[in-house]
Amino acid sequence: MFDDRSPDNPDFNVGIDCEDIQRWRKMLPRLESGYRRKLFTEGEHRYCRSFNDPAPHYAVRWCAKEALLKAISPFYKLDLRVIEIDNDKDGRPFFVVNDPAMAGLNLTIRVSLAHSRETATAVVMVAGFVRNCHEQ
Ligand SMILES: CC(C)(COP(=O)(O)OP(=O)(O)OC[C@H]1O[C@@H](n2cnc3c(N)ncnc32)[C@H](O)[C@@H]1OP(=O)(O)O)[C@@H](O)C(=O)NCCC(=O)NCCS
Repeated sequence: MFDDRSPDNPDFNVGIDCEDIQRWRKMLPRLESGYRRKLFTEGEHRYCRSFNDPAPHYAVRWCAKEALLKAISPFYKLDLRVIEIDNDKDGRPFFVVNDPAMAGLNLTIRVSLAHSRETATAVVMVAGFVRNCHEQ
């Protein structure tokens, strides 16, 4: 019998999240005030605000952070506030994690983002070894 509910030493894991974009559209004024630094970095604000409608870009970045927390959970306990999403020159998203301990874990992380009119979605894959991570 095959049962993959809780493998002790996964070498990869996935995480997914989705968000209602309208919820983030309503939050835009609050993102400008008290929430500004709590939820997104200055770079993320700059990127999202470069679009006429920033809401899907904020929503999908939040998805990505939640999806990373899910995907990385067997390997490492990560604080949401240290996660940043950046985009390369082709628009491809990638994570920057502002946690020095992460460097020693040798994890490989990949993210893919999508937004339709109403919904934002992110999928994250994390590859590594739980045993290695616990030995750090
Ligand atoms: C990437 C692409 C498929 C996005 O499709 P879309 O249906 O317009 O939009 P989606 O909602 O599905 O995805 C949007 C997200 O795709 C991601 N994305 C953009 N370019 C990407 C790329 N090259 N590779 C992977 N992801 C990309 C971004 O994260 C974007 O969200 P963000 O701007 O909030 O960060 C589309 O822009 C495309 O075909 N681009 C050209 C292909 C390409 O690779 N160009 C690079 C030149 S080498």
